[in-house]
Amino acid sequence: MGQYDVRPYKSGDETQIIELLHKVFNGWPKFNPGCSRLEHWRWKYIDNPVNVGVTTCVSVNDGKIVGCMHDFQGQYHLFREGIIAGKGADLAVHPKHRRQGLYSRMVDILNESRVKNRVELTTFISDNPIVIERTKRRGSILLSPATTMVKINDIDLHLKHNHVENPWIKKLGMSLLKTLNKPKQRVIKRSPDLRLEEKTSFGNEVDEYYNHVKTEYDFISVKYRDFLNWRYCDNRGGNYRPVQAWQSGELVGYIVSRIVNETQGYPVGYIYEFQFIPGYLDVANSLLRETLDHLDSKSVNMIIAWALRGQSIIKIFNEAGF
Ligand SMILES: CC(C)(COP(=O)(O)OP(=O)(O)OC[C@H]1O[C@@H](n2cnc3c(N)ncnc32)[C@H](O)[C@@H]1OP(=O)(O)O)[C@@H](O)C(=O)NCCC(=O)NCCS
Repeated sequence: MGQYDVRPYKSGDETQIIELLHKVFNGWPKFNPGCSRLEHWRWKYIDNPVNVGVTTCVSVNDGKIVGCMHDFQGQYHLFREGIIAGKGADLAVHPKHRRQGLYSRMVDILNESRVKNRVELTTFISDNPIVIERTKRRGSILLSPATTMVKINDIDLHLKHNHVENPWIKKLGMSLLKTLNKPKQRVIKRSPDLRLEEKTSFGNEVDEYYNHVKTEYDFISVKYRDFLNWRYCDNRGGNYRPVQAWQSGELVGYIVSRIVNETQGYPVGYIYEFQFIPGYLDVANSLLRETLDHLDSKSVNMIIAWALRGQSIIKIFNEAGF
């Protein structure tokens, strides 16, 4: 196989990186971003307003890119201190070049840049045991496990569109769960001046909102308008739907959802942001209901949202049928 050149990304690498991602993940990205894959990649890894230092690393063999790894960076407040955190993402090594240490060498280059640029925390989300075990062997800690919450309206429809083994057992299990989790909704009185508004961009109001809530948390992802506009309002990133909640002229929460058509004829809804001033349960309830109604109106049968285990937000999702 010869020598490998493992190095930071250089302009001109992107076409081969995308080809590699497409091959290894059997399609990349896994949704239609409404633009070329190249534009989507540039949005994700070049135009992130937080980026510092190396954010893409490649392994080259015989002039061909056979490995790539990315750092999806974000700002956080940790005990009120602003920090930048990297998140390993879109990591792929061509099947013919695995177990040659390429992943490890790419991580080393990213880590070197992280140290130089004061990227003080590194995270990743993965279900690949190779990545999980390697990271554990290096002393990383497993944060509170993420919980995926799912709401399925029609189980038969879900089974029709998704190949599952032993469908009747799954159906029985799902029906049982649905009955057990039957929404036990609290009666929450909605404030009479609460107003919801669909948006196409974020303005100063989210900066004020963030400054208001950030002190309530020991660890919080920084969500100022530059970040939110890049993340959710740039079409190259996908087609998101932000809805804001206003009360007495003040932003009191927002939610961001998206419909993805990964499987033909079976759109899936995702909830990416669900923010509200702590304790404003009527705001939470109204934002979630409005989004669920919207997804229903678009014939979305399955909706997915995430939380960390133990977060109080899970109760609100459970009450809505997740
Ligand atoms: C995961 C992946 C990137 C690993 O790349 P790689 O270049 O083969 O990995 P390396 O050779 O650098 O090995 C890294 C470590 O994993 C171990 N490892 C690699 N492949 C392994 C395997 N098949 N089984 C067990 N351990 C394995 C190595 O022993 C090494 O451990 P060590 O550093 O503690 O000694 C590659 O398998 C891949 O592209 N998989 C498909 C895409 C994917 O799932 N990406 C991750 C998404 S989060």
